[in-house]
Amino acid sequence: MFSVPSFASRSTALELMDDPAIQGPELEVTLAEIERINRALGGYPPSLHGIEALRPEGVTALSILDVGTGGADFPMRIADWAAERGLDVRITGIDLTETTVDFARQRTRAYDGIEIVQADLFDLDEGAPFDIVHAAQVLHHFVGDEAERALAKMARLARYGVVVNDLHRHPLAWGGIAVITRALAKSRLVKYDAPLSVLRGFSREDFEGMCRRAGLAAPRVKWRPMFRWEVVVPTRDRA
Ligand SMILES: C[S@@+](CC[C@H](N)C(=O)[O-])C[C@H]1O[C@@H](n2cnc3c(N)ncnc32)[C@H](O)[C@@H]1O
Repeated sequence: MFSVPSFASRSTALELMDDPAIQGPELEVTLAEIERINRALGGYPPSLHGIEALRPEGVTALSILDVGTGGADFPMRIADWAAERGLDVRITGIDLTETTVDFARQRTRAYDGIEIVQADLFDLDEGAPFDIVHAAQVLHHFVGDEAERALAKMARLARYGVVVNDLHRHPLAWGGIAVITRALAKSRLVKYDAPLSVLRGFSREDFEGMCRRAGLAAPRVKWRPMFRWEVVVPTRDRA
């Protein structure tokens, strides 16, 4: 029977995408479908606004770390946006698995300013920080206090601050994406994970609480269509 889940707190159920055994063409089809959803449902503006909000006035060269880059559609979109504005942006995209990294490398071959590296966020060396650390739809993959540990780690890797683009845990977002992906998605991962990722998403208070507990500056949290959060966490000296 169809039942509406609770939206009071974040779901702890695992997404299929988090299973490291799922690799190869099935994962590539999933990453391509995630990109189509990003394009269709306003995935990019929260990231671009967030990066622009952290760019100090007059600074035209930026290094950006994209955590959980997936099919690298965010690095490509950021690079195009930067080129249109005459900004010199170097982007390093990291992800966990060989399939994802190979797929992202193939897709970004035409972009000199993008490098894709196989790495886990938590293992990155904090000695050479990036100007801005960005993560789109990655934070909701972390369970429990892992999400705030990820935020703290990203902040330690950032000179100016962190931009998080993630999902609003809201019944309309859950129902909407369930209907759209059941009707249109080919990937079984997308059909299963898309509504679950909303249940693993966040409220405004979640971000405020995570930043407080992680000892970070107060985040600037903006709601963006369609049920996305644009979260900007300046490093303490820039707050
Ligand atoms: C839903 S995808 C998001 C892809 C892309 N950022 C987007 O929004 O279209 C989440 C990605 O985060 C990656 N990821 C999860 N935990 C990670 C970690 N600890 N370090 C690096 N990447 C991670 C996953 O492998 C997956 O490719």
